[in-house]
Amino acid sequence: MNSLLDIQSIRKDFPVLNRQVNGKPLIYFDNAATSQTPKQVIQSIVDYYENYNANIHRGVHTLSQEATEAYEKARHTLQTHLNAERPEEVILTSGTTHSINIVASGFSSLLKEGDELLVSAMEHHSNIVPWQMTCEKSGAQLRVIPMNDKGELEMDEFDNLLSEHTRLVFCNHVSNALGTINPIEEIITKSHAVGAAVLIDGAQAAPHFKVDVQQLDVDFYTLSAHKVCGPTGIGLLYGKRSWLEKLPPYQGGGEMIAEVSFEKTTYADLPHKFEAGTPNIAGGIAFGAALDYMNQIGFEAIAAYEGELLAYATDQMKQIEGIEFIGEAKNKASVISFNLRGIHPYDVGSILDKLGIAVRTGHHCAQPVMQHFNVPGTVRASFAFYNTKEEIDIFVEGVKTAQRMLS
Ligand code: ALA
Repeated sequence: MNSLLDIQSIRKDFPVLNRQVNGKPLIYFDNAATSQTPKQVIQSIVDYYENYNANIHRGVHTLSQEATEAYEKARHTLQTHLNAERPEEVILTSGTTHSINIVASGFSSLLKEGDELLVSAMEHHSNIVPWQMTCEKSGAQLRVIPMNDKGELEMDEFDNLLSEHTRLVFCNHVSNALGTINPIEEIITKSHAVGAAVLIDGAQAAPHFKVDVQQLDVDFYTLSAHKVCGPTGIGLLYGKRSWLEKLPPYQGGGEMIAEVSFEKTTYADLPHKFEAGTPNIAGGIAFGAALDYMNQIGFEAIAAYEGELLAYATDQMKQIEGIEFIGEAKNKASVISFNLRGIHPYDVGSILDKLGIAVRTGHHCAQPVMQHFNVPGTVRASFAFYNTKEEIDIFVEGVKTAQRMLS
């Protein structure tokens, strides 16, 4: 396989990959749900709590200054990673769900009846439900960009749906349920041509490739640290400065104010306007460490290697009689959703777990996708750069064993 990555040495960075599950070596193929954490990232959290645990932006004392510096350095890493123009365009949040809710809630006060929002048919619930709440509050209407049976967006329909009423378009960069890589460049260009803003949910794209938000000219882009080898409970919202200035704050409290009196409160400048309360300081620092780690390995090499894993696994799995792939888009990230004819996905997942293999089963927080394919759920195997072809061989045998036991 790919010689650009030294997989065996990379695997040594991930302590959990050494463990056994149900008496078998762990094979972790649930990376789309959450990635594993290398020791360099774990150490950044330990280092914070052991050496400079303090609140940020608040103290003159040394610990507080060190913590502030490390947190803002992490923001700078995130800014550089996305090629955002300014650090204050990177808002640290608790994750993609929080990031989307900031924008959706803010838009409630900017929309009116007659306005339209376009959502892709393959969204995670986190990029549907907040917008339904926005529509309820504002009277705007949600319209759906349909997909075909391969799990690709129907771009002709998108063209038809776009109009001078469209105010905002939101779409995932990569579908968590199908692995489809969406044509976001085209979506952004066409949406801007009718004056609509665009929010891209990058949670599932970030583990696989880098984006340049200035080159994309995207208005909002979100991601979660725990998908890119970082901890849970931290993520980011990138927003163009002009948009972030227009949106009202999402939460009130400390940190996000300039001045408070009982008569009137003024808000802090960006990014603090959207960062009320004491943040997840260790998480923010570790988010920076996680992207440093992945950038050191290199996203080009990661994407090439994962592409090989995807092609190999798809070929091997095609040999399994009765397998039904859910999502066969031409452009896919290293995610395979499937079912075995006549067998419930949960049962397949349970047997795989007995064999030490972790996959996700269910609707993947994307019930409309399951409705489209008329399935209760799928089994989803998602590969990361620390997975191997040998693990795929064991997994494919495991799927065959599950099929034999359940038929
Ligand atoms: N959104 C995550 C997934 O797809 C949790 O599994």
